[in-house]
Amino acid sequence: MKTKIKNILNLLKEQRGFDFTGYRTSMLERRIQKRIYDTNQKNFDDYFEYLIRQPDELDNLIDVFTINVSRFFRNSLAFEYINKIVIPELFLSKAKVNDNSIRIWSAGCSYGEEPYSMAVLINEFLRKEDASVNMSIFATDIDKKALKRASAGYYGFESVKKVKYGIYEKYFTKEENRFKISHEIKRKVSFSFFDLLDKNHIVPPDSIFGGFDIVLCRNVLIYFNLDHQKIIFKKLYKSLNQNGYLILGEAEVPIEGFNNKFRRENKYCKIYRKI
Ligand SMILES: C[S@@+](CC[C@H](N)C(=O)[O-])C[C@H]1O[C@@H](n2cnc3c(N)ncnc32)[C@H](O)[C@@H]1O
Repeated sequence: MKTKIKNILNLLKEQRGFDFTGYRTSMLERRIQKRIYDTNQKNFDDYFEYLIRQPDELDNLIDVFTINVSRFFRNSLAFEYINKIVIPELFLSKAKVNDNSIRIWSAGCSYGEEPYSMAVLINEFLRKEDASVNMSIFATDIDKKALKRASAGYYGFESVKKVKYGIYEKYFTKEENRFKISHEIKRKVSFSFFDLLDKNHIVPPDSIFGGFDIVLCRNVLIYFNLDHQKIIFKKLYKSLNQNGYLILGEAEVPIEGFNNKFRRENKYCKIYRKI
C-alpha cells in the first residue's frame, strides 16, 4: 500500500480508532480522491495536512469508506429464496427438536433495511402459520451514525421502492416524504456496534453466545482484502449453528479454506449452509 494512503489510515486509527488497512487499496484510493476533490485540496499530501488542521474531516472520510448503500429486500431473488425455502425449512427443523427459538445476525447492517426485511418475512410466516417463536435478530455495524438511523427506522423512497404493496401496507407508514417501519417490526431487531475485525470477540457481545441459525453478511466482504476476509469468515463460520445458513452478497463467495466448510444451496443466489 502506498505510504500516502498508509499515513492517512494511521491517522484515522490514532484519532478515531478505525482500522481500514484491510480494505482494498483501489477502493480506498478512489474514495480519498473524492474527498480531496470535495475539500478543494490538490493532492494526498495537502489532504493529509488538511485532516490534521480540520479533524472533523476524519468523520467525512469514515463516511465515504463505510459505504452504507442498502435497500429493503435487496436482491429480490435471494429474499424470495429465504421466504420460500429457508424460513419454512428452518421452522420445520426446529419443530422436530422442539426448539422454539430462532437467532439471526445481520453483520454489516447499515441503516437496518436487511435485518428489518428478515423480521418482516418471519413475521409474515408466523401470521400465515398461526405460530409463535422466540425470535432474536441482532444487527451490527461499525458505523454508529448508520446504527442510530437504523434504530430510528425512517427511510427514503430509494430504500423502500422494491417493497411489495401488501408488505408496504402492513409494515410502513408514510410521514411526509419518509417511510417509517412499524413498531411491531422495529422492536424485533436489536442494533449494536460491532467491528467484524474485532480481535477479542467472535460474535457481537450483545448476542452473548452466537449460535445463529442465519447469518447475513452481504456487500461487506467486497471491501476487504483476502487476509481480512479470512478473519471475518472465521467469525461467520464459528457463529453459525451446524446446518445454519450463511447469506452473502451477489459478488461474494466463501474464500479458500472456507469453500469446503459451506455448501451452496441455490445456484442463483449466494446462500450457503454450514457443513
Ligand atoms: C454496503 S453496506 C451493506 C448493507 C447490507 N448488508 C446490504 O447488503 O444491503 C456495508 C456496511 O458494512 C459496514 N462495515 C464496513 N466495515 C465494517 C466492519 N469492519 N465491521 C462491521 N461493519 C462494517 C459499513 O459500515 C456498511 O454499513
